[in-house]
Amino acid sequence: MTDYSLTSHIRDRLASCDQQHLLEFADELDGNQLQQLIEQIEAIDFEQIADLFNHFGAEQQWSELAAQAAPPMALRLHDESDNRFTRDEAIAVGQAALAANQVAVIIVAGGQGSRLGFHHPKGMLPLGPVSGRTLFQIHFDKLRALNSHYGNTIPLYLMTSPATHAETESFLREHDWFGYPADYVQLFCQGTMPAVDDSTGKLLLAGKDRLFLGPDGHGGMLAALQKNGGLDELKSRGIENVFYCQVDNPLCKICDAATIGYHQLAESELTTQAVPKRDALQRVGNIISIDGQVRIIEYSDLPDDVARQTNDDGSLKLWAGNIAVHVFNVDFLDRMTGHANALPFHLAHKKVPFIDTTGKLAEPAQPNAVKFERFIFDLLPMAQHAIVVEVDPQEAFSPVKNAATAQSETAETARQSMIAQARRLLTSIDVEVANDVAIEIDPALAIDKSRLIAATEGLSPISKPAFLQ
Ligand code: UD1
Repeated sequence: MTDYSLTSHIRDRLASCDQQHLLEFADELDGNQLQQLIEQIEAIDFEQIADLFNHFGAEQQWSELAAQAAPPMALRLHDESDNRFTRDEAIAVGQAALAANQVAVIIVAGGQGSRLGFHHPKGMLPLGPVSGRTLFQIHFDKLRALNSHYGNTIPLYLMTSPATHAETESFLREHDWFGYPADYVQLFCQGTMPAVDDSTGKLLLAGKDRLFLGPDGHGGMLAALQKNGGLDELKSRGIENVFYCQVDNPLCKICDAATIGYHQLAESELTTQAVPKRDALQRVGNIISIDGQVRIIEYSDLPDDVARQTNDDGSLKLWAGNIAVHVFNVDFLDRMTGHANALPFHLAHKKVPFIDTTGKLAEPAQPNAVKFERFIFDLLPMAQHAIVVEVDPQEAFSPVKNAATAQSETAETARQSMIAQARRLLTSIDVEVANDVAIEIDPALAIDKSRLIAATEGLSPISKPAFLQ
């Protein structure tokens, strides 16, 4: 039976915002279940949700904004004529910052691999073309290689979500943090947001005893890092800049010295890497400039005719694709946490299973719900001296987004990119590799050409799958 003394104030609160249905099944719950539901309800800011929902369908008019979009000023890769600093200068400054222990890393890993048909945290996906290493291990190995190269330990902050936290933590413990010093890895869990019915604005129940709560977007990193003490720790460790990337990109040039160096030379508070888009409608965010401010507009929000605009030579006007690799200045992050609403919410129309009025789980065939997410790159217009640094997609971007049946951005395309990268590196030191052979190079070797040369000396042409370590 429901304990009415426990729920009466909640009932009043729900009635005042027309959300009484959340206690519809309270009579069927035991004490613990009811307690859990009440705690979830108490954590919701119903006024905020109502306010957000009232803007559903009338969100920011991207087409108006997009009409003003210009390509961003960027430090280009193959034509340095307009660049304010040389690449060599930038590399030297970036390397000095890494050697002086002034850089930490944040990897966002709040996503499940469900879109891939992999029902675990995406970081647990086996991907190494020969070794079968997981995405998590690929990033950890690259960081360990950097640590031994620079003779220090880069603090790593790994963002999980309630859906991935426990499994990620036990996976990493089981693998002994892939040899990373445990004091230098912090897992922190992002927050959640409810989803609401798209016609009524009522919150959805995922069970009779619980609300539907989804991750609040990678923009949730800002609040979560502060809440977990990560931001204070960064400051107390003397970290000046944080290199940020997504777990789903095995090619990420983690702690790329040139990017960090350009960021410092330009006194940028937020730097973002860009790749030239393959085609106008490639499904990446568009890095643009409006009134001199760098911004990112998602592919789904940029009207096709704007995306298709070309220059006189036929190249794309809005060429810069977002690969979600950024460098944040720590003081800037700190300043932004002081503005609770520094990041706006984006509304997404999605299919969300929910408990219907009869108490059964309904599985909608069409989008039925509105979800709310914050995007970390919305900090760009608030950053001083934000800059864009072009990187080579072959060397820096091959994310795993889709199931095997898709044409692009699958685990297989990412493996092929890793193999091609290893092949290019071996070719650069005159090591021959037979066609169609899978090869993989341990980052500890890849980072140090002289060690790689020594390790491959005397090898006959590589003609079967090999993991060079
Ligand atoms: C994202 C970018 C897009 C960019 C592309 C590059 C957004 C809105 N768009 O698209 O501009 O071109 O990456 O690969 O970000 N994540 C969390 N918590 C969340 C949501 C996401 O940790 O609440 C993490 C996921 O684990 C994943 C990453 O962020 O690693 C990207 O999320 P995803 O939903 O795959 O973004 P995309 O639509 O691919």
